Amino acid sequence: MEIGILSPIKKPKEETVPQISMEVNGKAVKVEVAANALLVDVLRAQLSLTGSHVGCDTSQCGACVVHINGRSVKSCTTLAVQADGAKVTTIEGLSQGQNMHPVQAAFKEAHGLQCGFCTPGMVMAATDLLSRNANPTEAEIRSFLKGNICRCTGYHNIVKAVQIAAKSMSTKVAAE
Ligand code: FES
Ligand code: FES
Repeated sequence: MEIGILSPIKKPKEETVPQISMEVNGKAVKVEVAANALLVDVLRAQLSLTGSHVGCDTSQCGACVVHINGRSVKSCTTLAVQADGAKVTTIEGLSQGQNMHPVQAAFKEAHGLQCGFCTPGMVMAATDLLSRNANPTEAEIRSFLKGNICRCTGYHNIVKAVQIAAKSMSTKVAAE
């Protein structure tokens, strides 16, 4: 009987753990992430920024919206490695110290929230909208926020909040 030659046991390939560099809320960070790690998980679990919420994990609800280089993205369907080298802003980075961002203040003023679960994503998306269009119509607001689901408010006060924010931000710019 022929004696088979056993091939040498292959060592499992070492997992490569990429290190990414980002500027998160104005601070430079370097973080080791799994190649398939989602940005929202890295922000929440590794950087303790739990303001971005996970409502659906399938790009439907918008609770996880953050800004990458000033543009809103759903961080539950963005790989962390895609943010390598980018400026990331989360809801925690929007206020200036104790001063709320005008969009946050407007949500408070117009009661644009109830349970608050959708609010970080709504505020981040609305901020992006106002940076592209300083004076959106009601239809434009509703259209831009269609990727953000709110189960409590009926959206009316959210739209009102964005209108209030647009007004206060344009007044501020005119005064500068
Ligand atoms: Fe990202 Fe719902 S958790 S869209
Ligand atoms: Fe509750 Fe929007 S305030 S989901």
